[in-house]
Amino acid sequence: MVGLQVPSFGSGAGALDPILAAILGDTGAMPRLYFDANATAPPHPAVLDVMARAARELWANPTSTHREGQAARHAIEEARRSLAEGLGVKPAELVFCASATEALHLLLRGLQPALGSKPAFVNPGEHSACLNPLKDWADVRWLPGGCEGAATIVQMAANNETGLLYDMPQVPGAVRIKDCAQAWGKVPVDLATCDAAVFSGHKVGGPRGAALLWMRPELPWVPIMEGPQERRRRGGTEDTPAILGLAEAAKHVPERIAANAALQPMRDAFEAEVLGWSKDYEILGKAQPRLPNTSSLLLRGHSGEAVQMALDLAGFAVSTGSACHSGATKPSHAVMALGYSEAEARSVIRVSMLPGTGELEVQALIAALKFVLKR
Ligand SMILES: Cc1ncc(COP(=O)(O)O)c(C=O)c1O
Repeated sequence: MVGLQVPSFGSGAGALDPILAAILGDTGAMPRLYFDANATAPPHPAVLDVMARAARELWANPTSTHREGQAARHAIEEARRSLAEGLGVKPAELVFCASATEALHLLLRGLQPALGSKPAFVNPGEHSACLNPLKDWADVRWLPGGCEGAATIVQMAANNETGLLYDMPQVPGAVRIKDCAQAWGKVPVDLATCDAAVFSGHKVGGPRGAALLWMRPELPWVPIMEGPQERRRRGGTEDTPAILGLAEAAKHVPERIAANAALQPMRDAFEAEVLGWSKDYEILGKAQPRLPNTSSLLLRGHSGEAVQMALDLAGFAVSTGSACHSGATKPSHAVMALGYSEAEARSVIRVSMLPGTGELEVQALIAALKFVLKR
């Protein structure tokens, strides 16, 4: 796994299931295996190096006109150029933000004066970071469905909970918004089919505190967080180390996509094993195009929360849905949007593998899950 080592399984695991102890050995160390890549991923080692150096050497305010400030400014603009090249857009079209949540708020609130009273067609499984700023919009309609008359279309590239991939509906004249927070680094993203998109650093081995908003310049957008920075589109002193860390992480996106693609056979074998345990179990979106690292397991007859907690105690980090929902008792709106009941939505766990996850770790998860489900 990226940034993580395969830990050896301790005596607790031996008590949990002899298969686990046989697979991972028994040195008495408390194991931790991470299967929650869609919540966040560990930073790439090169990102840590770049950030540490920037924190030491480029701490001056990039808006300052002296030499120190200009060194930081130069590094930021080089990061912007490199990110733009990777995404195939113009550097001036990128706005640095602190999170994809912020980027979505800036984007949607900034479009609201021009578009907020006209029909917006939105994927009902969008992340709350996207649905929240749309609460003030007057005419939100749900995808799929004909988009006749759409002024805005909001369609995520990949769903964080199910991993389902979505194409952007094409309606002449509509502003097309794509949340690429989950897709970036897992599958190629296509910006030719949209007019604005957001990206999050911490999902691709970059830091928390750095994200991107990309917008075509002709959009009817107004700034809502004013200040001189980012060409008056996002006020606030730039976080140079975070921005440089984001740019470094983006350089590794092609290899990350390849590593994620390599997970698919293992992910499919994992799902086949779990489905073999009970006819009441289901993989959400199994027959549809999905992220190669994500399994959304509907385990009818079990509480997803209880399964997640039992796995956590056994040393495995999985999720019951999006990380933002964990700890809250609300069932996942993204699962219910697919037509599942509240009870079914409460029976879902999400397993999302990091690039580099190995057979051994997946075998260990299978053994632990089998034990937890008493199969
Ligand atoms: C699809 C999607 N959009 C937006 C976000 C928000 O990203 P950030 O954590 O950078 O605010 C997430 C985070 O889980 C996500 O999965």
